[in-house]
Amino acid sequence: MVDQETWENTVLKKLKLPNGVVASNRIMRAATWMGQAEEDNRCGDTIIETYGKIRAGIVVTGFQYVMHEGQSVRRMISNSRQADVDGLKRLAGIIHSSGGLAAAQLVHCGCKGLPKYSGRDIFGPSDMEVPGLKGEVIQVKAMTVDHVERVTQAYADAAKRAEDAGFDVIELHGAHHYGLWQFFDPSYNHRPENDPYTGTSIEGRCKAMIDAVRAIKNTVDIPIQVKVDSSSDTVRPEEVGELTKRLAEAGAYCVLFSGPDPTRKPRDEEDVYFLNDAMVIRSIAQDSGLLFGLVGGIRSPETVVKLLTGDGDMDAAFDVVQLSRPIISEPKIMHRWTEEAKIGAQKPARCISCNRCFAAGLKGGVRCVQFGDE
Ligand SMILES: Cc1cc2nc3c(=O)[nH]c(=O)nc-3n(C[C@H](O)[C@H](O)[C@H](O)COP(=O)(O)O)c2cc1C
Repeated sequence: MVDQETWENTVLKKLKLPNGVVASNRIMRAATWMGQAEEDNRCGDTIIETYGKIRAGIVVTGFQYVMHEGQSVRRMISNSRQADVDGLKRLAGIIHSSGGLAAAQLVHCGCKGLPKYSGRDIFGPSDMEVPGLKGEVIQVKAMTVDHVERVTQAYADAAKRAEDAGFDVIELHGAHHYGLWQFFDPSYNHRPENDPYTGTSIEGRCKAMIDAVRAIKNTVDIPIQVKVDSSSDTVRPEEVGELTKRLAEAGAYCVLFSGPDPTRKPRDEEDVYFLNDAMVIRSIAQDSGLLFGLVGGIRSPETVVKLLTGDGDMDAAFDVVQLSRPIISEPKIMHRWTEEAKIGAQKPARCISCNRCFAAGLKGGVRCVQFGDE
């Protein structure tokens, strides 16, 4: 049971970002593709209405592709053309009017892009074959160095559009086996030793992500946070620790730890499934000056407080926590928990992490199928 004072001193503690902008609390809405962009992938009334219901200190948008070849799923937000700015402005505006700071998550999905959407060839770090949605074989072409540099520039251009649209924060998507992670992970990156983005050294593997942070930093004046996987079958958390230190040197202010198979079904509400790897990374990068965040399976107010205070068996705390599915199910869960703290009766999220919300997104739009709309 969390008492009101603890809730106020931890979760409702304000978060001052490097540019002086202040988030009203420590809960971020994790980036969540809603499958609700318009047919041409601009932001229209449907997605604006959805974001208008969400309450969180920082609301990270669903992933926005920075080049059309990097689109991986239907109705994903485009931030690849000037024509996208008006919709992005409305998106940042509705988040602000709901009391949150607005963060734009940027991505190039690399070899997880689908020709079905972009009508183009699919590019990644290396020539390889990957399975498509229906088991078909997709031939991925290795990006040339010039191509990787164009993608880096596309990140910076998208960040500029986001800044012009009024976003307060950029979140770089370096997780979930998308483009930037693919360069870091040697199971995707087979580039030779003499290539600047080589998969044979930690410098080469980090370069695409680090270059993207630097390019964004040189272009906009808003803080950059990066979401990374904490490990994978082929990457140890210690290596992500090295990446994290470099992200700090490049100018990121916060790194958030996710992992492969991000939308797991926790065994119980305390099963915060990336915690152990995140703690390893955190210990390696603890002197970097970064803020740290965690996402994945966080469903109860007690867990949120524990993560923010480092209580119990954890020897260090996180600065922020991110929630995705609990906020799909209850967009105002943050308000509910705050009201319930006043009477000492907080109930966990109603979300059971069943992932039926995701399946709904593939048909019409993401919503809580289990319990219905709030
Ligand atoms: C419908 C749906 C869409 C998602 N879209 C994104 C996305 O656009 N970018 C991203 O980094 N993660 C995405 N995720 C993953 C979440 O941000 C989060 O990492 C994951 O759901 C675990 O957190 P949770 O247990 O609080 O749901 C998505 C998850 C769901 C369920």
